Amino acid sequence: MLKMNHLSKVYRTHLIETHALRDFSIHVREGEFVAVTGPSGSGKTTFLNIAGLLEEFSGGEFWVDGVDVRGMNDDQRSRLRNEKIGFIFQGFNLIPDLNLFDNVDVPLRYRGFSAADRKRRIEETLSRVGLASRMKHYPAELSGGQQQRVAIARALAGSPRLLLADEPTGNLDSLMARGVMELLEEINRQGTTIIMVTHDPELAARAQRNVHVIDGQVTDFDAEPQLRVPAGNDAAVALA
Ligand SMILES: Nc1ncnc2c1ncn2[C@@H]1O[C@H](COP(=O)(O)OP(=O)(O)O)[C@@H](O)[C@H]1O
Ligand SMILES: [Mg+2]
Repeated sequence: MLKMNHLSKVYRTHLIETHALRDFSIHVREGEFVAVTGPSGSGKTTFLNIAGLLEEFSGGEFWVDGVDVRGMNDDQRSRLRNEKIGFIFQGFNLIPDLNLFDNVDVPLRYRGFSAADRKRRIEETLSRVGLASRMKHYPAELSGGQQQRVAIARALAGSPRLLLADEPTGNLDSLMARGVMELLEEINRQGTTIIMVTHDPELAARAQRNVHVIDGQVTDFDAEPQLRVPAGNDAAVALA
């Protein structure tokens, strides 16, 4: 699903060079739920942004679904991102002037879906996260946990195969955090691969696999992940 080999990322200003990632290697298989932990500044967000094709990298190799990302231009990367990847951020990143329906619609508008297909997807994902009755509400009228559910609906509406979450429970109290985690687990059971950065050891422990990042490098991971994909899933075998 996602494979990085000896990846590096250097941020350069005229004064300093920051090696945000160095010799970073990871292999996430179809159907996995991976938790990424590590101290602040260790490179977790950088990794996630590169994984989500939002940021370029400086060196090394990177494949998404067997496709070599190195040779791709901006358009090709955007297309791959829109088709395959959904994002959830710590701060939800909802648009305050848009109601929930229109918030979830934003990324779909880039995809060339028909209006009817978009409407179906929006209603389906909002009901999947338990907010079907709130479609005309605005983000400010919701709790933090509900806002994060909208952000999850927005990430899922395009049917991504890979969901990337950067501290999705970081702004939530523990009860709401647990609710969001349960929703992510449910989404993973239904087949979406998830990579989640978290500070919360309790949530990390619930993932199938933990990857620990220190100083831009993977220091620690379980070598043999337990897959939840059903036996005989050809796609998973081919992509593993
Ligand atoms: N846009 C940027 N420009 C310069 N340095 C950056 C930028 N983004 C991140 N960094 C640096 O890269 C390192 C890793 O940052 P980050 O990936 O955000 O860490 P984490 O998410 O683990 O807290 C840090 O030293 C940070 O200051
Ligand atoms: Mg971060």
